[in-house]
Amino acid sequence: MKFLVILSALVALCAGHAIPTIPGDNSHYVEGESRYVWIPDGEGVPRLVDLEEPAVGSPLDARNGANNEYWLFTRRNPNNHQLLRINDNNSVRNSNYDRNRPLMVIVHGWKADGNTALNPLIRDALLHVGDNNVIVMDWRRAASSAYTTSVRDVPSVGQHLGNFVQWLINNHGGNWNNVHLIGFSLGAHIIGNAGRTVRRRIGRITGLDPAGPQWSDNPNVLNRNDGVYVENIHTDGGLLGIFNPIGDADFYPNGGTNRQPGCSLSGCSHGRAFEFFASSIIYNGFNGRRCANLDEARNNNCTGSNLRMGNTDFSKRGTGLYGLSTGSSWPF
Ligand SMILES: *[C@@H]1O[C@H](CO)[C@@H](O)[C@H](O)[C@H]1NC(C)=O
Ligand SMILES: *[C@@H]1O[C@H](CO)[C@@H](O)[C@H](O)[C@H]1NC(C)=O
Repeated sequence: MKFLVILSALVALCAGHAIPTIPGDNSHYVEGESRYVWIPDGEGVPRLVDLEEPAVGSPLDARNGANNEYWLFTRRNPNNHQLLRINDNNSVRNSNYDRNRPLMVIVHGWKADGNTALNPLIRDALLHVGDNNVIVMDWRRAASSAYTTSVRDVPSVGQHLGNFVQWLINNHGGNWNNVHLIGFSLGAHIIGNAGRTVRRRIGRITGLDPAGPQWSDNPNVLNRNDGVYVENIHTDGGLLGIFNPIGDADFYPNGGTNRQPGCSLSGCSHGRAFEFFASSIIYNGFNGRRCANLDEARNNNCTGSNLRMGNTDFSKRGTGLYGLSTGSSWPF
């Protein structure tokens, strides 16, 4: 009996440490146990991540938030960004920043940059529905490290974003209630740290499948106290995304896990979060129903009160878990 227990423990250990061979296939992955996981880069190409690789350097080194870039887009410059710099008044005065209009900030994930797919998709949707100040934050320096190092740098990158937004509003105007931070994967935890830095004044925070690996017991994880209203969209829960609710309102489209409709691999399900959100900006067509508990959310049979998923409504409020079904291709 003892032998069997030891044997099964060994088998579990080996399974947890085996190198997965099919690129992008995370069917082996068990949160908190598996050593390896496939995480897609900004172009959706799966990269093999060793979750036990030690983070390199110090959080104070060059690969942190000091290298963030803030790219402003408006309807007057929808395709070519204007670079805004903290403590550089002229960079804002000479730009199309308009203090009387909402401010939305888009934050990408690991191995990505300001040009990768989710940025133009969400940017164009935001400019389609309103003459907004849309800032794409490029944090490629810290995002290009090993995954474990990028995770370590998330608080620094987020604090710099928070300080930048505070400086922008204090010196050039703006309304905290009309600020919406939008972050995908690791970017979701970055905007959480930004919100904490400015003492929860951000009107809306939207986490798009907040990253799961190394976040389940990480104190820097996005949480419901980071902004006035914090919403999450979970699409690859338990694999690349966190499954547990961490916002005021947490949406679980199609059960919140892999496989999302039209997807076969977990990376595709993970990316659905930002595609659903982009669609919600334009069409506001996702009607969530409140779930009594996480099991109902997982089984996609929630039948409670209604709440729209996503969108750009600054007066939106809600609490709890919500389920809904979507289509398998744009606009879902
Ligand atoms: C930047 O502008 C703000 C207000 O417009 C002003 O209070 C501040 O002193 C300026 N900073 C610098 C470095 O000129
Ligand atoms: C929800 O789905 C699960 C699994 O399919 C099922 O066991 C349960 O009875 C369903 N609950 C309701 C209220 O339909």
